[in-house]
Amino acid sequence: MKKLAVLISGRGSNLKSIINESKKPNCLYIINVVIADNDCIGLQYAKDENIPIRIVNYNSVPSREHAEGIIDGVLQLYDIDLVVLAGYMKLLTSYIVSRWKDKIINIHPALSPAFTGLHTHERAIERGVKYHGCTVHYVDAGMDTGPIIAQRVVPVLTSDTASTLANKVLEQEHQILPLVIEGIASGDILIIDNEVIYRNNTLGNL
Ligand code: GRF
Repeated sequence: MKKLAVLISGRGSNLKSIINESKKPNCLYIINVVIADNDCIGLQYAKDENIPIRIVNYNSVPSREHAEGIIDGVLQLYDIDLVVLAGYMKLLTSYIVSRWKDKIINIHPALSPAFTGLHTHERAIERGVKYHGCTVHYVDAGMDTGPIIAQRVVPVLTSDTASTLANKVLEQEHQILPLVIEGIASGDILIIDNEVIYRNNTLGNL
């Protein structure tokens, strides 16, 4: 059983999808703690399931590294195997990324390497791309960079707005993130020397 920490900053719909998957029989992971950088609405999903919660407020510590030091302590306390950034709006520095090397993944609402950062759906519409989507990747100290594990594509229609596109992408996020977590928990997805390895045709099933 892999022990997860899920980090969130807002609505928490991806956390909810991870929780839902964890309730299925034979699920290979358990959420040991949910960490947020603010007292956000998404924490309610953890409270509903009696999952421990920690709020690490970056404004009440002298630096980002201090905040990450606290997070590091929580991850150790809960004996975490995998850290999942699910709508976590703080960029992690090399301090924590190096301590948890190859153990942090992120969901980004765009087809990396396109549209890193914020407002991806607005930018996709503005740019006139015909396909958009989401990416799950291992985390390095860059912004939405790091080895790509899986992507889901959605076509962009002329009738789409940033909001309709966001909804379509979110639907894919809710499917792909739990699948990737299961893949990592089972050992079918792993990373060696910055290369993502898939066993048992896992990539074909993502
Ligand atoms: C998602 O689109 C995620 O990809 C992005 O922020 C959004 C968070 O949504 N990083 P939620 O909090 O999981 O509902």
